Amino acid sequence: MNRKIEELKKDFRLNQKERRLMIGQVQKEMQLGLRGKKSSLKMLPAFVCPPTGDEKGTYLAIDFGGTNLRVLAVTLKGNGEIAEPKICSHVIAQKAISGTKDNLCDFIVEKVIEFIKLHQMDISREIEIGLTFSFPMRQKSIASGVLLNWTKGFTTKGMVGKDVVRLIQKTFSKKGFPQIKIKAIANDTVGTLLRGRYSNSSCDMGVILGTGTNAAYIERAFNITKDKALCNKTGLMLINMEWGGFNLVPQTKYDKELDLKSSNPGEQFLEKMVSAHYLGELVSLIVDDFVAAGEFSSAMQFIQTKNCFTTQELSQIIEDKHSALPVTKKILAEKGAVRASQRDCSLLKEIAKIIMQRSADLAATMIAAVIKKGDCCSYREHAVAIDGSLYEKAYGYKENVLRTINSILGRKRKAIVPFVCKDGSGIGVAIAAAIASKS
Ligand code: GLC
Repeated sequence: MNRKIEELKKDFRLNQKERRLMIGQVQKEMQLGLRGKKSSLKMLPAFVCPPTGDEKGTYLAIDFGGTNLRVLAVTLKGNGEIAEPKICSHVIAQKAISGTKDNLCDFIVEKVIEFIKLHQMDISREIEIGLTFSFPMRQKSIASGVLLNWTKGFTTKGMVGKDVVRLIQKTFSKKGFPQIKIKAIANDTVGTLLRGRYSNSSCDMGVILGTGTNAAYIERAFNITKDKALCNKTGLMLINMEWGGFNLVPQTKYDKELDLKSSNPGEQFLEKMVSAHYLGELVSLIVDDFVAAGEFSSAMQFIQTKNCFTTQELSQIIEDKHSALPVTKKILAEKGAVRASQRDCSLLKEIAKIIMQRSADLAATMIAAVIKKGDCCSYREHAVAIDGSLYEKAYGYKENVLRTINSILGRKRKAIVPFVCKDGSGIGVAIAAAIASKS
């Protein structure tokens, strides 16, 4: 095996001892975050408790914050059942990602109005809506959320420090739809957990492994000592961890380079190692380095690696089973390396595997850390609802996550049961809206 590949494997591999160390660090950072002490985990209360599964009604939901904006009409039937939702999906326009707050609010509101017209909804009455907003927010209630900072490459001006609900509610009124009322706002991880829990009472964690990565879990209110009002309460509260910010995993030189080039240097270290927004770029940086070191054939010098590979392509490369690696060859040719050799292709495949494997390993270790914090001896089963394209679609990813979880848990491997929670982030906020409108 190529020496540089061996080095890469060493730098990106997480052994069992490192995983154990990381679990302890994550749990410590969680405690600090809950206490309001300095921590790379924000641990943000979501002002919603677990659903019973008996919430009922039809709600609209907006799911904003990944690659696509989705508008959904969700009917909760009670008894843990949800009708097949109506969904419209749109790629988020660049001006909503890097323009002004008006661009962003207009984009969201216009897509909701389009949906209402398309489905000929009755606009003479109040329409209750939930908003999934997948960024760090400080909440004081279920119907308010102040944006703390952007992540995942968003840079929209004028929104940080503002209450997102107020901004979007105002835009609905401005556009002549004051009867559309935002009842709840939630992070996508909170939505996913609510969705999972609605139908499965053993579900106590929601995870996103997609464009970004993050998790929510259920905490006892009295442990949230940074909030005096909350910690005097009995009962349970969902917490958005913002785990993408976890910063105690050692960075390789490629991680450092990627961070420096990103729109938010010094932030979201874990997210930059795990999530789909960054994996392709990480592979591109390594390829550049290998090209410069003469590890590839001269054909690879023609490759255009700026934002070169998508996570979907990495997945196809890993899945490329035929010994001639025809899919990899095609992907490389499309990027300018027309005469890439078989060896170039297999080197690239190795690099892609290493990066995807580390992502799955880190995600699994984070999940184990969170579950073990609440149940250190794995006494009972914990279903973990996971939404996001990386987990759902990347070749072999789910299996890798499960393998690492199992190797961490050993004999107790049955204690953590991850499952795909399709559209959980959007459906879940409809459950939040139902809870809010009942109270
Ligand atoms: C980013 C956001 C976080 C979100 C995650 C997944 O990490 O900061 O709020 O949950 O992406 O979309």
